[in-house]
Amino acid sequence: MDQKSATPTSHESAQRAESGSVLQRWLRALNRYWRLLARYLRPQWPWMGLLAVILGGSIGAQVAMPLVASRFIDQATSGGSPRALVLLALLSMALALAGQGMAVAEAYVAERVSWTATNALRADLIAHLLRLDATFHTSHTPGELIERVDGDVATLARFFSRFVVYVLGNGVLIAGALGLLYHVDWRVGLLMSVFVALALAAMLRIHAAATPAWAADRQASAGFYGFLGEYLAGLEDIRASGAGAFALRRCAEVMRSWLAVTRRAQMWGYGMIATSEGLFGIGAASAFALSALLFKAGALTIGAVYLIFQSAEMLRQPTEQLRREAQDLQQADASMGRVEELLAMKPRVADGPGAALPPGPLAVELDGVSFGYAEGVPVLRDISVRLEPGRTLGIVGRTGSGKTTLTRLLLRFYDPQAGAVRLGGVDLRTVRLAAARGRIGLVTQDVRLFHASVRDNLTLFDDSVPDERINAALDTLGLTDWLRESSRGLDTPLGPEGAGLSAGQAQALACARVLLRDPDLVILDEASSRLDPATDRMVHTALGRLLEGRTGIIVAHRLATLAYADDILVLEDGRVREYGPRLALAANSASRFAELLRVAAEEVIA
Ligand SMILES: Nc1ncnc2c1ncn2[C@@H]1O[C@H](COP(=O)(O)OP(=O)(O)OP(=O)(O)O)[C@@H](O)[C@H]1O
Ligand SMILES: [Mg+2]
Repeated sequence: MDQKSATPTSHESAQRAESGSVLQRWLRALNRYWRLLARYLRPQWPWMGLLAVILGGSIGAQVAMPLVASRFIDQATSGGSPRALVLLALLSMALALAGQGMAVAEAYVAERVSWTATNALRADLIAHLLRLDATFHTSHTPGELIERVDGDVATLARFFSRFVVYVLGNGVLIAGALGLLYHVDWRVGLLMSVFVALALAAMLRIHAAATPAWAADRQASAGFYGFLGEYLAGLEDIRASGAGAFALRRCAEVMRSWLAVTRRAQMWGYGMIATSEGLFGIGAASAFALSALLFKAGALTIGAVYLIFQSAEMLRQPTEQLRREAQDLQQADASMGRVEELLAMKPRVADGPGAALPPGPLAVELDGVSFGYAEGVPVLRDISVRLEPGRTLGIVGRTGSGKTTLTRLLLRFYDPQAGAVRLGGVDLRTVRLAAARGRIGLVTQDVRLFHASVRDNLTLFDDSVPDERINAALDTLGLTDWLRESSRGLDTPLGPEGAGLSAGQAQALACARVLLRDPDLVILDEASSRLDPATDRMVHTALGRLLEGRTGIIVAHRLATLAYADDILVLEDGRVREYGPRLALAANSASRFAELLRVAAEEVIA
């Protein structure tokens, strides 16, 4: 998690959680809750029903236990038959066992429901993130998105499955315990009703006062993880510059400020527990005093006194639970808000209606294309280029001239602000995204590999691709020898982010990845880093084979790569400086391209 991104997010949620009155917040949270509930819990209604049944049974057992015990005491003190006493004792044991069994069953069903529901929500969020466009992804760090897809959803997990059932269940349990008390003596019932109401009100008040402290605690924790994330990511730089001690001091500072806020939040938490314990202690003592008086006056049996004591005790837990659900609801509100906000985000690049692309190698046409990532900062300006099917275009230009940006428009990661991009004569905006991207193979400048086997890296986890096809592709590209050197062939594991491979090897693998998909347009954004001669030759051969029979666009940083280009586009500051057949441009000594070639040749010689 990145500190810069995490802090405002939790800050926003803290602000959101604090706005409006307590009641308004609950109503808003409930409203959100029903919407999510309807979507993710409806498919699981049989399990939810089972959960309600189990909870009902466990409440029944809890209410029945003191009743049985009270009957037992009365029978024992009034000389009841031993047989009846044994039966009551057995019944009491059976109730206790059933209660435990139901607790286990409840945990199982509740976890099942909450994991199924939250996993469905996670999957929806991930699928949604994949649909969102590049603009969204460049403005949100991976850490922030992980926090949304997992952090917020995990907050919801318990809440999701248990809220309704617990609120209902505990409400019923409180009503049951109070009912028992009224049944024994209405005065005791009334007294305890007042205490329950007082305790709930006091706990909710304290909770409202404690909310800012908890929000500050969450923010401090996000800050700490943000720091840790950056520290670990920058480990190499920190070590190399001997800054370990400074980083540790910064770490201590972050933790010290976290300690201060977490201590305050925890004190509120303990204050709440102390208040609830205190109130219930007084309540139970008053009930006990009242029942002692009534017992002395002969209005109650000793069994009834026991029943009062037990029922008063029984009230404590569900009241505490109800408070916890109310607190969860408020906390879940912020998470639900963020999840909904994310799901409501629309990609800027809308899927096309489904025009068909012609078969075979695709012609590429940029017609008066202008584009900028931000408004008022043009990166590409009025670019018009047409590449015939089967030909290869080499793009050259200084760093920052817009070469990579141009390739992104061809894959429709972005739409141009003016002009049109056409593939095979069809406007890209009218083609389905998946259909267009399925016809294009892209080797990016910074190839991403995964912590998986070479096979999975080549097929991108598509198990249906047979090994023969993979080997054939590697053969075609001339990569078989290189792979044979590694002992486990296709099963060779790659480290995290492809660790263990050089930039050139990664590009060679990416070429094979593209060949497996058999695209009709190949785009290669060459790595700007220099490769050692052997790897360079390997990538070069692979690229040549990959381009055979396809339209190609290569962003070239090396002279040798340009040999594959039929046409050349020289970009300068986002504009077409020169465009034409390579040989003609090279032959014209006044051209910018010829000049670039001369400079490059001198560099190579030097
Ligand atoms: N995702 C992005 N968001 C905002 N600006 C960007 C983004 N990507 C690139 N730019 C900007 O657009 C301009 C063109 O960048 P681009 O990556 O297309 O250059 P390039 O020609 O590929 O450079 P290089 O040779 O270094 O790869 C640069 O000024 C860059 O800062
Ligand atoms: Mg680039």
